Amino acid sequence: MATFKKTEKIQKLDSKKKRTASSRQWLLRQLNDPYVAKARKDGYRSRAAYKLIEINDKYKFIKKGCRILDLGAAPGGWCQVAKTIVGQNGFVVGVDLQDMIPITDVTLLKGDFNDESIHHQIMNTFAGEKADVILSDMAASACGMTDVDHIRLMLLLESVYHFSFHLLRPGGSFIAKVLRGGTEKDLLTQLKQSFAKVTHFKPLSSRQESSELYVIAQGFRPAKGGNHSETPASSDNIININNEKL
Ligand SMILES: C[S@@+](CC[C@H](N)C(=O)[O-])C[C@H]1O[C@@H](n2cnc3c(N)ncnc32)[C@H](O)[C@@H]1O
Repeated sequence: MATFKKTEKIQKLDSKKKRTASSRQWLLRQLNDPYVAKARKDGYRSRAAYKLIEINDKYKFIKKGCRILDLGAAPGGWCQVAKTIVGQNGFVVGVDLQDMIPITDVTLLKGDFNDESIHHQIMNTFAGEKADVILSDMAASACGMTDVDHIRLMLLLESVYHFSFHLLRPGGSFIAKVLRGGTEKDLLTQLKQSFAKVTHFKPLSSRQESSELYVIAQGFRPAKGGNHSETPASSDNIININNEKL
């Protein structure tokens, strides 16, 4: 696991450049973040890579030969980590709203998980094979209102949960980023119906001030999760609720 000393050199910004207060704050944080520097050195596309490394070191759900679906994959740090672990006999499919620079031996799909057509593309890519692990590091677009961001993300994850009944193999794992805000416990309760072991975990590499944490659900038991026989997770609810401007 990556650890860092607190004696990092504090970098300063060129004070002559005009920047908004928030972009200044973001830049300063990037410049002084040891995980950003380490990601650059280790060749990872994002500091997020260390979160997956930490989570997998602890819960060991990604193994050699595994088939992985990575939702909210851009710029690709988690795909890189997953591909390294699964090796030549496994495969990784990454999905994101944004364009991604190709990653060797990783299949990348562009699309919104709220859109049913991407569900079909994912199913086609897996071509009848089941996934061993479904990862979601998706962050629904922030509107600046913490409660709304939280609810949007929880609805998105509920849709991933339903989708997992079509793709995840019995015994498989579901790992997802959630934001603290009250209803993350509802998702936990739902997951407990169809996974043998469910817990929350905050990696050290996740910024302390961030409300994010990860839900780790292992030992998928599809028969216990109720009726999910419709086509892959319809996202109509999500779109309607989002349009109502909660
Ligand atoms: C924190 S980043 C993921 C970082 C990534 N795990 C890595 O290691 O590089 C969150 C991503 O979720 C994507 N995202 C958010 N909502 C999405 C959605 N509805 N469908 C697909 N991707 C989504 C965003 O475009 C963004 O790239």
